[in-house]
Parts: sequence; structure tokens; C-alpha cells
Amino acid sequence: MRWLITGGRGMFGTDLALLLQARGEGVVAVGSSSCDVRSLDAVRAAMRDIDVVVNAAAWTAVDDAEAHEAEAFSINATGARNVAAAAVESGTRMVHISTDYVFDGAATTPYGPEHPQDPRSAYGRTKAAGEWAVRAANPDALIIRTAWLYGEHGPNFVKTMLRLAGERETLTVVDDQMGQPTWTRDLADLVLRLLADGARGGYHHGTASGQTTWCGFAQEIFRLAGLDPDRVLPCSTSEFPRPAPRPAYSVLAGNSAMRDWRTALGGYLAVQSSQR
Ligand SMILES: NC(=O)c1ccc[n+]([C@@H]2O[C@H](COP(=O)([O-])OP(=O)(O)OC[C@H]3O[C@@H](n4cnc5c(N)ncnc54)[C@H](OP(=O)(O)O)[C@@H]3O)[C@@H](O)[C@H]2O)c1
Repeated sequence: MRWLITGGRGMFGTDLALLLQARGEGVVAVGSSSCDVRSLDAVRAAMRDIDVVVNAAAWTAVDDAEAHEAEAFSINATGARNVAAAAVESGTRMVHISTDYVFDGAATTPYGPEHPQDPRSAYGRTKAAGEWAVRAANPDALIIRTAWLYGEHGPNFVKTMLRLAGERETLTVVDDQMGQPTWTRDLADLVLRLLADGARGGYHHGTASGQTTWCGFAQEIFRLAGLDPDRVLPCSTSEFPRPAPRPAYSVLAGNSAMRDWRTALGGYLAVQSSQR
């Protein structure tokens, strides 16, 4: 099979490309300079002789999107629509990556795939519009919502915590937002599994099992790295105001049996230390 990954140079796209290469698949991973998803012609040209396209291209700067919603929309919604339309034209199966930010974050029980969207941030609105655009143009596309990603090929929370551990004696981390830290490698594996299993078009959730807060996540990073987790102190979201509102509750249900976030984190840290 021949795969195209738009946004293929990003944190998730790079891990997906590496997994596909390791499995002997043909893969073309394109960044914005060679395939800007805002251009339908560019997307059409990149999709020649492709069996599966995974759209991992996105404006992911959540806070900056508040002041640049139109630019974020052109990538997250119009860009997603372009990939979906070109995939239909060329008979290419499509996977689109979306986010927990399409929900309101006010629930107290996990969000199922069919829960109504109600985004509270500009980023969430643009990603929700992208989901609608993909569904309308290409009902056969898989839309996989994920959350709290970390991976080797991008800046992420795990790297930030380990860097700060070397700079400060104690850290304060928000303890009133609940979610599921998810390794990009596990998400890449899920994409392949869903397609191999013949998953139907529509919404799927792709986050690790279990749940925690950012503070709990940070404490586990410290523990697994052999550091004292008591150096991580809890605080509330109101103590760290940000331009974009953060969902208080981002736990997704209906996941396709992804492993527990703690086990995955241990795997990620083992890979990191073996590369040092
Ligand atoms: N990170 C998270 O915690 C998280 C959580 C939930 C969902 N997601 C979703 O997961 C997907 C992957 O996220 P990620 O963390 O891997 O993001 P990322 O590292 O920021 O990668 C996104 C990529 O999109 C590309 N891109 C930006 N504008 C583009 C354009 N106009 N045309 C083509 N490509 C463009 C960028 O490519 P260049 O570098 O070449 O410009 C970048 O490498 C996104 O859909 C994101 O919304 C992420």
C-alpha cells in the first residue's frame, strides 16, 4: 500500500511515517512547504497513486488560535475539507486526526464518539468545523479524536517536565483538568489497526486507557524518571490563566483498546533513555 501523510513532519506524523516504514509500507510524509493543505491543487497532486491518506496537518497552537482564528480555520477546516475532497476524487481511503477540544469539557463522564460537539475555544471551533467538512465531503473517512499527545518528534509536556526538573526544586502543575496522556506511537498503531480491522467511516476515539490530571501526569513522569514526585505540587487552572479556555474534563470513551497511559509513558521514557 502507498500512504500519504499530510502534516507528516509533525510530532504524530513523524511517528506514523516511521511505523509504516518499519512495516515495509510505501509512505510519503509531506510538510506544509511541499503540500500546503490550504491548496486543493497541491493536495490533489500529492495524492496521485496513494491508497490511504492520513491528515495530520493542523494549526495546533491552541492559545494563538484565539487571535488568529481565520488562519487556523483555513488549515483545520478548509485544509481538512481539501484532503477529504481530493481523497474522494482519487478513491483514496482517508483518516483525519481530530481532538477532544471539539467537546465542551464540562462533562463528568467520558465523551462517546457520538456526543455532540460544543467547542469552547477558537482551536476547538476550527477542529470541529474540520470534522464536519470531512464528514460532508467524505463519509467513508475515519475521524480519530485524540488528546494530550506526547512523542519524540515534537515539543511536549513530558520533555517540558523533565527539563524543568533540572532547573527547579519544585513545580506547580494544574490538578483540576482531567484527561488521557497518549503516546503518538500508540496512536499511530491504532490508525493501522482500525484500517486493518475495516473500521467504518465516522468518529473514533484514540486516547490511552485510564485518566489523570496534568499534575498526576507530571508526578508519574518524575516517578518513572527516578525523581521525587512530591516535587510536583498541585494548583488550579485559575492560577494559570491562558488565552484559550482549557477543557476541565477531556476523557474520551469508546477507545479501541489502547493500553493504559502509565504503561505507555514507561515505554516512551525507556525509548528516550536508550537513545541518550
Ligand atoms: N498535540 C496534541 O496534544 C494533540 C491533541 C489532540 C489532537 N491533536 C491533533 O493531532 C494532529 C497532529 O498533531 P501534532 O501534535 O503532531 O501537531 P504538530 O506537531 O504541530 O504537527 C502538525 C503539522 O501540521 C503541519 N501544517 C501546519 N500547517 C499546514 C498547512 N497549511 N499545510 C500542511 N501542513 C501544515 C505542520 O507542518 P510544517 O511543520 O511542515 O509546517 C506540522 O508539522 C493534529 O490534527 C492535532 O490537531 C493533537
